[in-house]
Amino acid sequence: MNRASLMSKPWAATALVCALALSAVGPVLAQAAETAAPAKLANIVIVATGGTIAGTGATSTTTVGYTAAKVGVERLIEAVPELKKVANVRGEQVFQVASENMTDDLWLKLGKRVNQLLAQSDVDGIVITHGTDTLEETAYFLDLVVKSSKPVVLVGAMRPSTAISADGPINLYNATLLAASPAAVGKGVLVALNDQINAGRDVTKVNTSTLDTFRTPDLGFLGYLQDNQAHFYRTPVRKHTLATEFDIVKLETLPKVDIVYGYANASRVPVDALVAAGAKGIIHAGVGDGSVHKNVMPGLTDARKKGVVVVRSSRVGSGIIARNGEANDDELDLVVSDSLNPQKARILLMLGLTKTNDTKELQRMFRAY
Ligand code: SIN
Repeated sequence: MNRASLMSKPWAATALVCALALSAVGPVLAQAAETAAPAKLANIVIVATGGTIAGTGATSTTTVGYTAAKVGVERLIEAVPELKKVANVRGEQVFQVASENMTDDLWLKLGKRVNQLLAQSDVDGIVITHGTDTLEETAYFLDLVVKSSKPVVLVGAMRPSTAISADGPINLYNATLLAASPAAVGKGVLVALNDQINAGRDVTKVNTSTLDTFRTPDLGFLGYLQDNQAHFYRTPVRKHTLATEFDIVKLETLPKVDIVYGYANASRVPVDALVAAGAKGIIHAGVGDGSVHKNVMPGLTDARKKGVVVVRSSRVGSGIIARNGEANDDELDLVVSDSLNPQKARILLMLGLTKTNDTKELQRMFRAY
């Protein structure tokens, strides 16, 4: 393109001027970059617990039927050298399980270790690698018991580490980026998969096998992980982390709370069995707005008379249970789960029962957290 034709194309002329200007300042910028102190990276601990993100399959196309919880944290970190660009990372393997085998004891162990790490001045945030099956439960448990505003991010993968297009490496990279981001401070425990940020309280797994399985029904996710940045558009408003009343430091066990599923033709047998087995609380995963089958309700009211706390939740997957709607909760002395799904209501009731047996107090907690 000659000078005359350049003049007839203003965009090209502008580009030429910019190029000339840049070539003049280029050496100065390069020199400045060489002498500038490197940006201080956040110190992030990657706490590994197992799951598919650490899973191995028989072949590169094995995306179901693989073995979870095989690869150690050091290998997970080595597989993503890009982590070093966003944080100073170090790994810690707290246990190695497929998350369907999660227990209350493992939660207490994890929660205590996370709190110890966050209390250290040389730790700026934590990433927890976890199986996706109960990831939402661990996220909510930690949301209620972590005593720090520093970022805690749970991450998993839907494909094992040996699969073509394994999602673990990019998810781990994004989770680390998020944990190192000042924007994640004070947002409660977060979940990062599939380029999205979700709140630990609200997220749930909705598909057995697809990569976009983590969703926050109705309320939506909090933001995107894109272009090496965390982009937030919402913030959780329910109380979490530093604002909760729960303290696990001295706890060795959690009260036994179980879930009874609602369905057509249900009977009271599971309720009676759980009460006989020593349950201190029962979450009823009811149909619709937490409705209880007429065969099951006498079991629940008998349980309540024996001191077992009964919470009405729903198997539907979204929405609020209306108190005194589908049951006379005041008269029967029942609690409703607000918008918590049954598996998360179980966690709040366990922690609530470490503080009180009073159903009014427990109902207050279900409105607050
Ligand atoms: C697990 O939850 O440990 C296995 C499934 C997964 O991580 O996706």
